[in-house]
Amino acid sequence: FEKDTVIVVFGASGDLAKKKTFPALFGLFREGYLDSSTKIYGYARSDLSHEALRERIEPYLKRPNGNEDDTKVEEFFKMITYIHGAYDTADGYVKLRKSIEEFESERKVSEPHRLFYFALPPSVFLTVATHIKNNLYANDGVTRLIVEKPFGHDLESAKALQKDLAPLFREDEIFRIDHYLGKELVKNILVLRFGNTLLNASWNKENLQSIQISFKEPFGTEGRGGYFDNIGIIRDVMQNHLLQVLTLLTMERPVSFDPESVRDEKVKVLKAMAKIDHNDVLLGQYGKSEDGSKPGYRDDETVDKNSKCVTFAALAFKIQNERWDGVPIIMRAGKALNEGKVEIRLQYKAVASGVFKDIPNNELVIRVQPDAAVYMKFNAKTPGLSNATQVTDLNLTYSSRYKNFWIPEAYEVLIRDALLGDHSNFVRDDELEISWSLFTPLLEFLEGPNAPTPEIYPYGSRGPKALKEYLAKHNYQMQDKHPYTWPVTS
Ligand code: BG6
Repeated sequence: FEKDTVIVVFGASGDLAKKKTFPALFGLFREGYLDSSTKIYGYARSDLSHEALRERIEPYLKRPNGNEDDTKVEEFFKMITYIHGAYDTADGYVKLRKSIEEFESERKVSEPHRLFYFALPPSVFLTVATHIKNNLYANDGVTRLIVEKPFGHDLESAKALQKDLAPLFREDEIFRIDHYLGKELVKNILVLRFGNTLLNASWNKENLQSIQISFKEPFGTEGRGGYFDNIGIIRDVMQNHLLQVLTLLTMERPVSFDPESVRDEKVKVLKAMAKIDHNDVLLGQYGKSEDGSKPGYRDDETVDKNSKCVTFAALAFKIQNERWDGVPIIMRAGKALNEGKVEIRLQYKAVASGVFKDIPNNELVIRVQPDAAVYMKFNAKTPGLSNATQVTDLNLTYSSRYKNFWIPEAYEVLIRDALLGDHSNFVRDDELEISWSLFTPLLEFLEGPNAPTPEIYPYGSRGPKALKEYLAKHNYQMQDKHPYTWPVTS
């Protein structure tokens, strides 16, 4: 990879930079994927010393090799320079440019390679982009921007943002990050599907009766309520993260794995999705936990007492093409639930009746987190003299199968891709627009005068009571009679 790259983290004193961006840069450096000749700048408004910045970031750096990583930490901080400055006036950017130019001329760089990371609130997004263009753009080299969600609040604002950004940067210079695309198991979806005849052949309406993508978090909006109230769970994780998972699960085989071929197929399947039916959604908001120890969503002082903000939603998607016609695809996400888990569950149709009575359906589960795994619930004869059947599994649990692999964090994967100019796992402009067209009418309804009131569910529960019924209505058959527990082998 290229030497003497310049990386600038805007919003360096903020939460995202501290918890994700700097730790990911360190992870890449630790593993040998970021050269020590790289110059990293932190830029933000706060007047912080180098030491103060280090104190903020250091606790979040992962050291899998214990003390052995200490020297790496020292070296890493030597690569960082912090510059403070405003976002809306040129002075800070000029200071930054001088420092970058000094660095590049010392190293005799003829084609500068500059990556700008936006760990910034949307309110300053365009201002910073404009100043970068005017002051920091590498005319004789490569300039790239990594930008973070939210990319707009709805279709109109997303389009406006695009329109404003377009004269400043080319599409190939922009990397819209959706960190779910960097997760190991999400990256594995296309290989599992298209690299296995067995799965590929059954990935359709002839064999599957329902698909679920579920996202569960065991904590509420603790302290972030005011921010979340304008966002809600649908914008927070469904329109972006879970929709990305859904497109990878349902797109057709791309002609190759080059970024544009993959993204072309994603766009096509998004276009085949029917409008989300407002009357067929399940909405929830968490209340106090049953024992009263955890606060309800509206107990947060920064939240409107009558807020109808949705902290749980289940939506049913219909894809109108030959592969998926008639297969309900349920996307569900919730905060303050009984556990933290992200998984994809494909339920197969029942086998023909006759020889078997009451044999459970196969299910293929891709567990994104925690405990990454792919397993298939599978029927087999009970061993021994018995001829009864029992449900067992074909199980690929990463922690036991891949003991000696370094599985990178999502942000590590994506920052490296951006450094290499690979757009495969980033969101293209047309993809973004279609995703907003799909969700905007629903969001407008939920935020409009006739907004339904979400069902209150207790903090720490499984979500709204009606969930079981909702899943059943969409072809998911509970396998209550055939208890199965996924064996965690780690
Ligand atoms: C973020 C959301 O984009 O994704 C958060 O804003 C959410 O609310 C997070 O907690 C989930 O990401 P992960 O990687 O922890 O599953």
